[in-house]
Amino acid sequence: MVFKVLTLFPEVILQATNFSILKRAQQRNLIRIEAVNIRDYTKDKHKRTDDYPYGGGFGMVMTAQPIIDAYESTKPDKPHRVIYLTPQGRRYTQDIAKELSKEEELVIICGHYEGIDQRVIDLIVTDEISIGDYVLSGGEYAALVLIDSISRLVEGVIEKESVQEESFSDGLLEYPQYTRPYEFRGLKVPDVLLSGDHEKIKKWRREQSLLKTIKSRPELLNGVALTKEDREFLIK
Ligand code: ADE
Repeated sequence: MVFKVLTLFPEVILQATNFSILKRAQQRNLIRIEAVNIRDYTKDKHKRTDDYPYGGGFGMVMTAQPIIDAYESTKPDKPHRVIYLTPQGRRYTQDIAKELSKEEELVIICGHYEGIDQRVIDLIVTDEISIGDYVLSGGEYAALVLIDSISRLVEGVIEKESVQEESFSDGLLEYPQYTRPYEFRGLKVPDVLLSGDHEKIKKWRREQSLLKTIKSRPELLNGVALTKEDREFLIK
């Protein structure tokens, strides 16, 4: 998987991805992250990459020319998606991460200020994505969210089992986890986890997932295929 990130702050992308799982994935050539500095492509004599909005209004808009030239410099040949990160986009989910992890190459455009000239979107963008209903100061932070969540789904980056076991894989939130010591500040690990009875542990975890989902994100339950046991547990 190759990520080509068009940004005014390449070091934000390159430094933040130079740790832990993403660092190892790059060393093992499972993913590649390229950051292209949009400012390197501006034809403005003062190296500007933004301008006042037509029609007036607050703030500045990123101009189309440097973004389009930066994009063309990446020589995209194979069919590929071009993602623009914006609060106006489709809300990002684990399902979208899964879908994007199947691509060979993703181009990601990071906006700043009041956004980018609409003609960039009209000319090259295939997907407008928002990572949530709040406004970030720059698209780089959203790009990092995409890169991390997609990379860990690329085959070989992390163990298959951990992807299958985690939150959202069955539509529910994850059950609570414990590790040593058995007792910490008076709080003990639930006995069932020490029982060695795998069926019982599985049942307890499923019930805890259901409880956590109802408490924190009840709307997620609409998309879950509840079993007969789930229903019995929930009406108790
Ligand atoms: N850029 C600014 N805010 C954003 C958001 N919520 N999601 C994606 N990109 C953004």
